[in-house]
Parts: sequence; C-alpha cells; structure tokens
Amino acid sequence: MKNILITGGAGFIGSHLVRRMVNRYPEYHIVNLDKLTYAGNLENLRDIEEASNYSFIKADICDAAAIHQVFEEHKINSVIHLAAESHVDRSIADPLAFVTTNVLGTAVLLNAAKHFWKDFQDVLFYHVSTDEVYGSLGEEGFFTEETAYDPRSPYSASKAGSDHLVRAWHHTYGMPVVISNCSNNYGSFQFPEKLLPLFISNIVNNKSLPVYGKGENIRDWLWVEDHCQAIDLIFHEAKPGSTYNIGGWNEWKNIDLIRLLCQIMDRKLGRTPGQSEGLITYIKDRPGHDLRYAIDAHKLENELGWKPSITFEEGLEKTVDWYLNNPEWVNRVTSGAYQQYYHQQYIERVQKP
Ligand code: NAD
Ligand code: TYD
Repeated sequence: MKNILITGGAGFIGSHLVRRMVNRYPEYHIVNLDKLTYAGNLENLRDIEEASNYSFIKADICDAAAIHQVFEEHKINSVIHLAAESHVDRSIADPLAFVTTNVLGTAVLLNAAKHFWKDFQDVLFYHVSTDEVYGSLGEEGFFTEETAYDPRSPYSASKAGSDHLVRAWHHTYGMPVVISNCSNNYGSFQFPEKLLPLFISNIVNNKSLPVYGKGENIRDWLWVEDHCQAIDLIFHEAKPGSTYNIGGWNEWKNIDLIRLLCQIMDRKLGRTPGQSEGLITYIKDRPGHDLRYAIDAHKLENELGWKPSITFEEGLEKTVDWYLNNPEWVNRVTSGAYQQYYHQQYIERVQKP
C-alpha cells in the first residue's frame, strides 16, 4: 500500500500530478499538503476533491510538528515534493522567502522522513526540481545529468540547495531518493505571473506585453501533463539515488514564442492579424537573466522509454483554449492579496523601459 505525500499539490504542476495519481492509482492514498500561498488554489482540484483515495492538509512544509503529524497519521511511505516558491522575478524581490521554503522546508521534510522511515524499506523521497540549477547555456550544448550545478538566481540557487540536501540524505543516511530536473512547463492552471499565462491574459485585456531585454533568451518548453507522466514513470521505475532530466527538445527564443502566441490569439479572438503583436513592449532586462536553457532528455528516453505525448503546437492551442474558457479562474486567482503586488510590479516594469 502506498501512502504518498505530495507537497505543493494545489499549485500548477502539483495539481496536475495529484489528479493523475488519484485517478490512475485508486489503490494508493494521495495526501496533498499545501500552504495555499498566492500560487496554491484548491479550485485547481475541484474535480477530484471527493475521491476516497485523496486527502488535503493545509500546512507549511517548514512546520516540523505539522509534518511529523502527517507522516504519523497517514503512515506516509513515499514523498513527491513539489512545494516551493517558484517564480524567478519574485525571488529577485524577496530571496529569503525562497531560502525559507525551498531550502529549510526541504530539510524539514527530509528529517521527518528519516525519523519515520526506520529501515528505509519500500520508501522513496522524490524531489521535483528544475533545469535552472545548471545555470545558463551559450548558443550550443545541452544540460545533461552530469552538468555541474551553477545556479544564478535566488530561485535556482534555492532549488540547487534543496537538490544538494536530498542527495546528502541519500549519501549520509542511505535514504532512497530520486531527483528530476525539468525545463519550463506550460499548460492549464499556471499562475498568471509566468510568461505564457500572463501574456495570454494581457492580450485578452489589451494590456502591454512586457518583454525583457530584446526577447532573445531561450527556454525549452514542456506540456505540464507530459512532465507529470515523466514523474509517474520515474517514481515507479527509477533506481534510488538516480537523477533524470526532463524536457521535450523544444527550444524557443522568447520573442518568437510571443509572436506565435500573438498570432494564435488574433485568430482565436477574431482580431486583425498583427493586432496582438502591437502590444509587445520591450522593458529593462531581468537582472542576471539566464540566456538559454536546453535539456538533453536522452537518459529518460533510453532508460525509461519516455516521450512527450503531444507536439508544442497542440499543447499551445490546448493551453490558450483553457485560459480563454476559464476567465473566472484567472480573475479569482489574481484578485485579493495578489492584486496589489501584481499591479505594483507590473506598473514598475512597464514604466522602466
Ligand atoms: P507553483 O508556484 O504553481 O506551486 C507551488 C505550490 O507550493 C503552491 O500550491 C504553494 O501554495 C505551495 N507552497 C509554497 N510554499 C509552501 C510551503 N512553505 N509549504 C507548503 N506548500 C507551499 O509552482 P509549480 O510551477 O507548480 O512548480 C512546482 C515544483 O516544480 C517546484 O518545486 C518548482 O521548482 C518545480 N519546477 C517547476 C517548473 C515550471 O516550469 N513551473 C519547471 C521545473 C520544476
Ligand atoms: P518565466 O515564465 O518567468 O520562467 P523562467 O524565468 O523560470 O524561465 O519566464 C520565461 C521567459 O520569459 C524568461 O526568459 C523571462 C521571460 N519573461 C518576459 O520577457 N516577460 C515577462 O513578463 C515574464 C514573466 C517572463
């Protein structure tokens, strides 16, 4: 019997993963633990909240007493850890929040697992991490699992720190752990501060599209459900102590991706071709902006037979359709406490070209 603690399950990737695990594995008990920060919304999980193999607990991963209670009550024997502060721009504005949740919170979870998993039999601690720990690539080359860590933003440095802690618990105490480092995800339920949902929402509302620098930075995009399929596979098949990079061989220069998005939006909204592109506004570059991320996914493909299930064009269409069909979700998650912060940041950015 697997009793799986999924942390951060009310967030973007976490909600897709929780839904997948609850639906595919009725014999498992899925415990979703989330602090419900601005980025976590139980609304993301309405369709499965009544499932008999699902429980939700509102708690902070830094709260050792609460975490111990969950391990004890639910007899947790696997952890899939996603809870994190996840947005680079916010990490530049408030780095300590990232160190606290991403570094300290991960250590609290590892310590609880060590305390309850006496002989380390039939247990696993899986850390969901990012390719940003590897730093920034030039025009050539890819990140492999052997690439040396070289994080450059407070976000990526805090994720690198948490990866190191997970490996330390493996090497020092013998805890069975797995880490995966994934490229940029896109899809439904992503908080509208990240590039794609922010720009979709701004195009709908005829607001400017703030492009950092000249838009020449490159990201490698993967559909969130393909990421979750990879996590499911790695969780069940990977050897303890191993690491996998996850990516769909899908690099896009920001400005090319933004232009493609503008064309799709013009078509979907029945606007004159070129109308949405008129909203593009070049702004002062993000400090320390990593030039290029690109994943070499050969290990995952060759060892575990993983492949993305859909093309980028299909995924982007699905994503745009979801946001256009769910404007009330966007309005709700960006109202309240977030509203003030968002407008302040937005105004500051567009006013400093
Ligand atoms: P997200 O910001 O959408 O969700 C994070 C979730 O964690 C939220 O539900 C939030 O409430 C919760 N959380 C935050 N602090 C917490 C705390 N102290 N205690 C408990 N819960 C807390 O993030 P996401 O984009 O879904 O990313 C999930 C994980 O995947 C992160 O660890 C991130 O580093 C990693 N990742 C993300 C991407 C990406 O493109 N989004 C790519 C690779 C890896
Ligand atoms: P983002 O979605 O923040 O992800 P990450 O920084 O983790 O890769 O940004 C993706 C790319 O888009 C990144 O190069 C920064 C750029 N970007 C903009 O140009 N403008 C924006 O308003 C945002 C949010 C991102």
